[in-house]
Amino acid sequence: MFRFIAFAILTCQAQPLRSLKTVPVPQVPGLDEYVRDRGVLVALGKAFFWDMQAGSDGRTACASCHFHAGADHRRQNQIQDPNHPFPANLLLESPVFPLRKIADPTNRNSTVLTDTEMRIGSAGLFRRMFKAITEGEAAERGDEALDAPSFAIGDLHVRRVTARNSPSVLNAVFYERNFWDGRAQRVFNGLSPNGAAPGAWVIRDGRLERQLVGLDNSSLASQATGPILDDTEMSYAGRTWPQLARKIYALGPLAFQTVAGDDSALGPYARIGGRGLRDGISYLSLVQAAFQPKFWEYAGSVDDSGFTQAEQNFPLFWGLALQAYQSTLISNDSPFDRFMEGDQGALTAQQREGMQFFQQQGRCTTCHGGAEFSNAVVGRNNNRAFQRTGVRPAGDDRGSGNGNFKSIGLRNIELTGPYFHNGGQSTLEQVVDFYARGGDFANNNIRAFNASGAQRAALVAFMKSLTDDRVRFERAPFDHPELCLPDGHVETRPGVLLSALLPQFPRASAERWAGIAATGASGNKFPLQTFDELLNGVGNDGSRVNTMTEPCTIPLP
Ligand code: HEC
Ligand code: HEC
Repeated sequence: MFRFIAFAILTCQAQPLRSLKTVPVPQVPGLDEYVRDRGVLVALGKAFFWDMQAGSDGRTACASCHFHAGADHRRQNQIQDPNHPFPANLLLESPVFPLRKIADPTNRNSTVLTDTEMRIGSAGLFRRMFKAITEGEAAERGDEALDAPSFAIGDLHVRRVTARNSPSVLNAVFYERNFWDGRAQRVFNGLSPNGAAPGAWVIRDGRLERQLVGLDNSSLASQATGPILDDTEMSYAGRTWPQLARKIYALGPLAFQTVAGDDSALGPYARIGGRGLRDGISYLSLVQAAFQPKFWEYAGSVDDSGFTQAEQNFPLFWGLALQAYQSTLISNDSPFDRFMEGDQGALTAQQREGMQFFQQQGRCTTCHGGAEFSNAVVGRNNNRAFQRTGVRPAGDDRGSGNGNFKSIGLRNIELTGPYFHNGGQSTLEQVVDFYARGGDFANNNIRAFNASGAQRAALVAFMKSLTDDRVRFERAPFDHPELCLPDGHVETRPGVLLSALLPQFPRASAERWAGIAATGASGNKFPLQTFDELLNGVGNDGSRVNTMTEPCTIPLP
């Protein structure tokens, strides 16, 4: 009885945990004014997401940083520190973590052994200024620009790296606002992440005019318009939307990547026994099939820029297609979901004990509540969506202000290390120690708690029950085209890079490319590797998938 009362008081603000199958996917009111075929829209979004031709270098996709359970899984050249020099091209190894090490992990006031403001981010592009596209070619023309000393060794550059860790895109459709700081607005304006609206070009009475766009529940569309023009993530500095559109429309979708014939969204379009999509399937034909004609049918130029209506409206198409695809990436069939649906055997005794600790002594549900394990979701009015938890001092990264970050969802968390906005912890055990000691830096939100070794292990075991096997084995809808990834740069001896010998880019260093095979609806035979396994080489014998040891077999131009 006493226990029950204590439970009720501690969790009075928390949303009860439940199966994600009970939560409807947020719908976009008024979408039909723009979209005429939602099935084609999803296929288009999946092609956009995985197509390496989208990046200015012709080799960088959204998926390059979101290919592994929706997150990144690379080992080398993944660090960044906006405020201090840092070692370029560092190979991440187990002893690097946690980034802040203290003598007694149970006591946050114990002696600090090492600390760093460094973040584990994601490698994007080399620093270059946009010059022009060459129609029919994925690689754009650019001028090399001198980068910060930390993105270089000697005269040679490495790819730039983001200043925050890549969160998973799975289940992101449930967030009211995306990004760690929530800056991708819930209302999509057809052009940018910012919400306030320039709009789209439409035909009315035979004439073109600009119409405001204000689509609600569309943070994913707002988000998608960010990285594609960002000069760290996907773009040479200064590329514009219509230039990107002209490039994309002239390319065969996924031209260099194989697509499985039974891919859950792209299968019907796949070129069997070859690369890319079938003859006759172009990005323009997919746009025309997916969107209402009034957004693309005008034959002349919109203005004296010479760009067509379909080119000018490309950010609208890009945002809505990527949102539609990512809205299908919902992992609602984990052992936890099955347990909540009444299958008592779905969780082990240890996981059930961990679940109780998660809700009670751990107070985790105050911020990671409901079916989404996050408070920052559509339709939940509360003030615990963005919280300061003392991962870093607020001055390192202000987040949404004052060092607040999104109370991010925990589904498939086993597969998406390293953790937190700075990627500072490599294992869930380290995360649990972090919470038990009340966080690493000043905050008013995390209360330290006592937990035995067995209780900590139970908490970890519970978090592992949030993995959906369709994600673990990349089954539909989590199947995907082939991909190649740059995973660090070649060093001939420690600290010496090798030139890529590109006449137009003399500072480019040679890279190591890792391959990811295409999977179809039935997925892989072996599970995805965890980040800790990556650091320790577990699964390189073929018993794990995405070990970054498979060669790239795409004939990159
Ligand atoms: C170079 C790596 C990189 C590329 C390429 C990239 N992203 Fe991301 N993505 C990130 C990082 C880092 C963040 C977190 C940034 C932040 O919150 O400030 C992020 C955040 C996101 C989020 C927000 C998830 C959340 O929980 O808030 C979504 C959704 C997403 N990316 C989708 C995309 C899409 C779609 C594309 C292609 C248009 C893309 N990303 C390209 C690195 C990348
Ligand atoms: C006061 C709100 C709050 C409480 C209570 C809380 N969290 Fe969090 N959690 C957050 C926020 C905010 C983040 C992101 C913090 C950051 O990256 O700076 C986070 C991040 C995480 C992450 C990393 C997610 C990722 O994708 O990197 C894990 C794992 C996690 N929390 C587990 C827990 C567990 C287990 C508990 C209970 C012991 C707990 N949290 C309690 C707010 C909270």
